[in-house]
Amino acid sequence: MKKPDMIEAKKRNKREVEYTQYTKKEDLFGKNKKYFVRTYGCQMNEHDSEKICGMLESVGYIKSESYEDADIVILNTCAIRENAHDKVFGFLGVLKHIKDTTNPNLLVGLCGCMAQEEVVVSNIINKYKYVDFVFGTHNLDNMLNIIKEKIDTSKNQIEVLSFEGDVVEGIPMHRDSIYSAWIDIQYGCDKFCTYCIVPYTRGAQRSRKKEDILSEVKDLKEKGYKEITLLGQNVNAYGKDLYDDYDLSNLLEDSAKIGIDRIRFVTSHPWDFTDNMVNIIAKYDNIMPYIHLPLQSGSNKVLKLMNRKYTKEEYIELYNKIRNKVKGCSITTDIIVGFPGETEEDFNETLEIAEQLKFDGAFTFAFSKRENTPAALMKETVSEEEKLDRLHKLNEVINKYSLESNNKMVDKIVKCLVIGESEKDSSKVCGYTENMKLVNIDGPHSIIGKIVNVKIEEAKSFSLDGKYIKD
Ligand code: 5AD
Ligand code: SF4
Repeated sequence: MKKPDMIEAKKRNKREVEYTQYTKKEDLFGKNKKYFVRTYGCQMNEHDSEKICGMLESVGYIKSESYEDADIVILNTCAIRENAHDKVFGFLGVLKHIKDTTNPNLLVGLCGCMAQEEVVVSNIINKYKYVDFVFGTHNLDNMLNIIKEKIDTSKNQIEVLSFEGDVVEGIPMHRDSIYSAWIDIQYGCDKFCTYCIVPYTRGAQRSRKKEDILSEVKDLKEKGYKEITLLGQNVNAYGKDLYDDYDLSNLLEDSAKIGIDRIRFVTSHPWDFTDNMVNIIAKYDNIMPYIHLPLQSGSNKVLKLMNRKYTKEEYIELYNKIRNKVKGCSITTDIIVGFPGETEEDFNETLEIAEQLKFDGAFTFAFSKRENTPAALMKETVSEEEKLDRLHKLNEVINKYSLESNNKMVDKIVKCLVIGESEKDSSKVCGYTENMKLVNIDGPHSIIGKIVNVKIEEAKSFSLDGKYIKD
């Protein structure tokens, strides 16, 4: 048994990261069996789940639409806020009921960021004994061996490493979409924002080699993919751990030259965003004019407490630079309210900056204390009620400008990548504009997977309505 250790995880032990190749398993032990994977959290997790599905299928398992008739269920978890935990433990309860009643042979596994937390794993060992196996974010590539060991020995398997794993290439993947694909460019994070658990659950930053990334871009283009999203916790720091003179701007430019229709990247940290990056984004039509640029707070005092390494003035300067140079660019953000020490005045500064910058959209969060992070040791000064009140006030401002920015799109004819049927109306389809606005489109299902012209007819706070325009 290998359990997680957050103190160990905090150490950056300068271990030499190895770049290795995945070894395919020949034993088809999942033949005639069904699997179900539930994913919580960010796009990195969504993409990890594509690898989990790919590996399971490589030994014969077949995807099931429902956990009720699955032979194995895996929960790929998120640890970013406490409510992510609650959802996972709730679902584990449902699976226990299935094991107790209809399917005692069901295998239940837990992985992802929660698996890297000591408290969670201790809880599972002591109270959730029906969880058959646990593995962490650093040994995803070893998943099949862990499951096989459980099947062969009937013993529960806990295997979580507290040092960063190697960068493993060639893991089988079942991509969810045949039009739009995620590509990992970097794992982990070295920023240590004081509220954030990611540097502990995902470890030190490790960049993938540019050759591996670019050959994945080429391969996806050849397969007919229209869009790629370069993924990392802090993509703007890409390459820092690997190259002296190759960064995100070079990677974006090399990817753009391959000629895939749409390139996106997420998430950006303002600290590492260079002028060169802004210029490259502006230069290439196939690098999409959309940037997610987390602000976190509008108060310099709180930014400092958060260890964000920029001031609000520096953020505003970067924001304006992007707006001025990248034509039609939309910018969204993340903001946390109720950080320890955030006074009414600090919060008002956040409201002011939201009024001033008029974001296209924002994800807003109430501060949630994460075990072992520096902010967990700070005295909480904002009550839960006050946090909700601030969240409510902030959302009003955010939604006002989100609608305002959507309204500017009305009557325009814009390009949309149509990704599937509209969730709101099955007679319609839906897709994304270049600047990442969701559009419900009045048009035939035959345009799914294509980039088409759409006339925007109506704006709402979180989406647009439009009509397909034939070429
Ligand atoms: N509490 C609240 N929000 C958090 N985030 C990260 N950690 C916390 C926390 N402890 C938010 C940040 C980050 C986004 C992904 O989640 O805004 O950008
Ligand atoms: Fe967390 Fe900060 Fe790293 Fe983002 S940049 S993953 S918020 S530590």
